[in-house]
Amino acid sequence: MKSLVLLLFVTAIHAKHEQYSGWKSFYVNPVSFDQLLKLTSKIQELHLDFVRKAAVNREGIVVVEPKYQDDFLKFLAKEKISNRIHSDDLKERFDIDDQKIEARKLATRSINGGSLPYDNYQTLDVIYEYIDKIAEDYPEIVTLVSSSKSFQGRPLKYLKISKDKFVSNKPIIYIDAGIHAREWITIPTVTYAIHKLVENVTEPDLLDNFDWILFPVVNPDGYVFSYERDRMWRKTRSLKDWSITSFLCRGVDGNRNFNFEWNTVGADDDKCSPIYAGTKPFSESESRTVGEIIDEHVDRMVLFITMHSFGSMILYPWGNNGSLSHNAFSLHTVGINMADAMNRLSLPHFPNYVVGNSMLTIGYGTSGAAEDYAHYRGVPLTFTFELPGLENEDDESNEFSEGFHLDPIYINQVCVETWAAFVIGARRAGDLFGKKNL
Ligand SMILES: *[C@@H]1O[C@H](CO)[C@@H](O)[C@H](O)[C@H]1NC(C)=O
Ligand SMILES: *[C@@H]1O[C@H](CO)[C@@H](O)[C@H](O)[C@H]1NC(C)=O
Ligand SMILES: [Zn+2]
Repeated sequence: MKSLVLLLFVTAIHAKHEQYSGWKSFYVNPVSFDQLLKLTSKIQELHLDFVRKAAVNREGIVVVEPKYQDDFLKFLAKEKISNRIHSDDLKERFDIDDQKIEARKLATRSINGGSLPYDNYQTLDVIYEYIDKIAEDYPEIVTLVSSSKSFQGRPLKYLKISKDKFVSNKPIIYIDAGIHAREWITIPTVTYAIHKLVENVTEPDLLDNFDWILFPVVNPDGYVFSYERDRMWRKTRSLKDWSITSFLCRGVDGNRNFNFEWNTVGADDDKCSPIYAGTKPFSESESRTVGEIIDEHVDRMVLFITMHSFGSMILYPWGNNGSLSHNAFSLHTVGINMADAMNRLSLPHFPNYVVGNSMLTIGYGTSGAAEDYAHYRGVPLTFTFELPGLENEDDESNEFSEGFHLDPIYINQVCVETWAAFVIGARRAGDLFGKKNL
């Protein structure tokens, strides 16, 4: 009996990532806006997955399932878009990532005097335990809100951090992460911000002058699923109805589900698509909860940031059509300030951040996105961050390459540099819009 259990366990480990056997990923490097547009429309036509966004002269990474590999390579050749292989077999790549995380677990301590460690990725349970503990240990400044639930019934937990429980009219800074399940590195950047506001205060003005709303895991169902079952999972885990396609293709892209130009561009009606927009705006309780926070606090919210990966980019509205908003100048300059802060602290082999309008930078429009919704509702400064992805290649040259993972050895680095962006972003937002509604 015991050996049977053991055998099943071993089989389960080997079966992990099996669905990605034979899948490949390619670096693609468009050198003109025209190439970028052709590339993104091909990717949309084949429903491919752009795991690291490309920009003009900025290599991206596309994942291609076996049946489209020939077609995609022919297209790249025809359009003369330079490309090279990133991974010959995705399953193998994911297995290596798992090994790195396991090795990291052995090499690092797992307890950090009650603080969350930033030396590895953490399970949802560990993250939630930390959020609860912070609220318990610092009741004068931290309020835990967990009144809404995910599709599968998990609490959606966010923290309100304030010196006076939000009663005065201070400007509000909002930051969230994890709406896209597989973008694991986003989550520690937000828990790290909690740490810097509450546990290790080196910038006291940030609490004197602002109130904060920090929402580290917007899509907990997806996060757990990406941990346990499908490393590439991006969407929520909702079921629309009792049809077979609903069961086969669960979930909605939370960042296409906001009530802004919903399902008009860069989103999909097909339930199986990674960018499925849902049955209606805010069909997903995860996006709806973010929308409700925006609506409730819009009068005082001056800065809204939603964390994503990968690409080393700071993107701003309008993402649906590439028009610049009336606040474009402030958006751009504050974006540059934040990028500068990160570039200054960054490691030499990390790429510099690119700052720009979403659509003009990544070459395709999106609708129903959080950044646009918040801006449309009246938040003056709204941004999508695409964090850097970096792997340590396991070849003899030991070179670094950009990837769609971030090696756990870099988690702390990314958290530290991203915090510097939040600090300058908040201060600039305060200078520009702090008196918004006083
Ligand atoms: C914050 O953390 C740094 C680095 O670990 C440490 O040197 C410093 O003493 C801490 N400061 C406070 C106020 O906790
Ligand atoms: C682009 O979309 C924004 C937001 O909906 C809108 O205000 C703007 O007028 C649009 N621009 C064009 C050229 O349609
Ligand atoms: Zn994302």
